[in-house]
Amino acid sequence: MAFVSPGVPADLVHAVRASFRSAYGRPADVVGRAPGRVNLIGEHTDYNAGLCLPVALPHATCAAVARRDDDRVRIASRQEPRMWEGDLASSGPGHPTEWASYAAGVLWALREAGHAVPGLDIYVDGTVPLGAGLSSSAALECSVAVAVAKLVGLEPSDDVRRELAAACVRAETEVAGAPTGGMDQTVSLLARTDCALLIDFDEHSTRQIELDLEPAGLVLLVTDTRVTHSLNDGGYAARRADCEHAVARLGVASLRQADLVDVEGLADERVRRRARHVVSEIARVELAVRAIEDADWARVGDLFEQSHASMRDDFEISCPELDAAVETAVEAGAVGARMTGGGFGGSSVAVVPQERVEAVARAIDARFAAQGFRAPAHLRAVPSAPAGICAD
Ligand code: GLA
Repeated sequence: MAFVSPGVPADLVHAVRASFRSAYGRPADVVGRAPGRVNLIGEHTDYNAGLCLPVALPHATCAAVARRDDDRVRIASRQEPRMWEGDLASSGPGHPTEWASYAAGVLWALREAGHAVPGLDIYVDGTVPLGAGLSSSAALECSVAVAVAKLVGLEPSDDVRRELAAACVRAETEVAGAPTGGMDQTVSLLARTDCALLIDFDEHSTRQIELDLEPAGLVLLVTDTRVTHSLNDGGYAARRADCEHAVARLGVASLRQADLVDVEGLADERVRRRARHVVSEIARVELAVRAIEDADWARVGDLFEQSHASMRDDFEISCPELDAAVETAVEAGAVGARMTGGGFGGSSVAVVPQERVEAVARAIDARFAAQGFRAPAHLRAVPSAPAGICAD
């Protein structure tokens, strides 16, 4: 059974500072740190002006950054073999095209927002599994954003955090070309320990929802199916296009304004199912928040089950590995389980009684082995702190 450790925060900071020094031959000025996320419920709702309920993971990315006195930018990562090098002016929509676009894109977006971003050397390292649907890209963007914000003298108030989230979204959508909706960057910058973050993309507001899992003897178990998910290979954009089609047909401002009766009248069967997922999923987020506030975990489990079925059957973003992880988790004692994130691979999330965690993980491993799937990886999703600057 493989559990992915979040690492010891102080060790990670020490390691990224050491890597920076050996890559660039001088010390870093500042280290920013930003978490990955797991979404509890509310999938593909963010770009539909809907609701979602993510938590920040203890797994995070650290970005060590130092100012240069010219306009060059160098970006290296312990997780990538090649360093990227360019001028501040050479990144922008569509450039660079490789992994470094997520970091270079943030510099571009902050400059676009009017900040005097200097030339920089950047080194990143982290423990958010890559391609697992746990927002390693948002963690990379947000770790760079908080570090650069500190260098240019921005104090991390909630308003500044919202502004940084917006810059990170521009980096992802306009520079990296992944047409995502903003949930990942918002939670990475605005999460709170022991809470889930209710995000309302219509009102552009957030609310902390206390997650009292421990008194209930429950934990969040995330299973990375190791089916690599990608947000810029067409499936995600196709779902977005179907939603836009539904909006145009219904004559509403967004699917947040649509109701299920109207949706059932849509002529195109596929578009109807896509819209049904989004509209019903937004309602499930509201119900889940109420159930969490009432500590009604059985109800949360039912809502997870309905959400998964909706993503599998109506939105069609699940896959055999995700279905197997979800079914097996529930059979082995989880209160509820569902796929999480963009879909087409990635991870599932389950609410599991503390004493059943290892048994559930073992049962999923056995099922994957029996079906000839790659061995999955698991992690404990303790609701953690938002992005910030690391103490020296
Ligand atoms: C990805 C995107 C988010 C969101 C989810 C699905 O994580 O980055 O913006 O759309 O998929 O809920």
